[in-house]
Amino acid sequence: MSRVAYVNGRYLPLAQAGVSILDRAFVFGDGVYEVCLVRGGALIDELRHFARLKTSLAALRIAAPVGEAALKRILREVVARNRVSDGLVYLQISRGAARRDHGFPPPGVAPGLVVTAKSLDPRLGEANAERGVAVITLPDERWAHPHIKSLQLLPNVLAKQAAREAGAFEAWLVDRDGFVTEGSSTNAWIVAADGVLATRQADQSILRGVTRATLIDVAAAAGLRFEERPFTLEEAYAAREAFLSSATTIATPVVAIDGRPIGDGRPGPTTMALRRKFAAAAARS
Ligand code: PDD
Repeated sequence: MSRVAYVNGRYLPLAQAGVSILDRAFVFGDGVYEVCLVRGGALIDELRHFARLKTSLAALRIAAPVGEAALKRILREVVARNRVSDGLVYLQISRGAARRDHGFPPPGVAPGLVVTAKSLDPRLGEANAERGVAVITLPDERWAHPHIKSLQLLPNVLAKQAAREAGAFEAWLVDRDGFVTEGSSTNAWIVAADGVLATRQADQSILRGVTRATLIDVAAAAGLRFEERPFTLEEAYAAREAFLSSATTIATPVVAIDGRPIGDGRPGPTTMALRRKFAAAAARS
């Protein structure tokens, strides 16, 4: 079965789906995106993804291409047409196609909307969780607004590739003061040496992860001691546990940072408990 994409009002086989070479997403990376987990055919935490999408669009002054109800229908249609039971749905909105000029295009240029979906074998994620993954660290060289989920991902792309070439799963980014911000496509967490769960506060320096928000709910419901605060790389090396989170990784244990084992070098109990409880806490729609 060939995959189907939604592109500016039409459902097309992936091989025939395309946008104008003048699309500003292509020319300038001028757009935003969301990635939503699909489990058993249901969209996970869709409303939180929509809320963040609204914030990203507002921050960049891009108009929504369709209303929320229509967008919901399109996401479901793309998931259904691709027969995705477990996987993800990707949506991307650009400022539209117009003659190349750095300034915004004239009024009347419609924003572009592309939606794709793909299946992912959940057993691969489970295998990663059971083994735990390694991360490396790199300087955070991104712009000042990583809280906007924009298409400008070159530093993230280079960081992920550096991780892969080092045999690691992810790169954690470290700010100029020695604090971990987040991963190239995931949020970063530790269970510190004092046993308190910590993740960086969601200010402008990180993406406000949807999975992060739901895991905070899970931690609160479980009565875990938890702090939103910056943590240093040194603190992460000395942590009892570390893990990363995102729509597709949920909570995945980090068992080594820069080649140093974290805790006893095996997935930690707090991480695994949060991961287990995630499904029940997340909204399905
Ligand atoms: N990445 N931080 C960054 C920089 C991210 O790109 C992501 C998501 C996250 C986690 O956010 P969430 O829990 O909402 O997925 C944190 C997506 C999955 C991606 O770019 O593919």
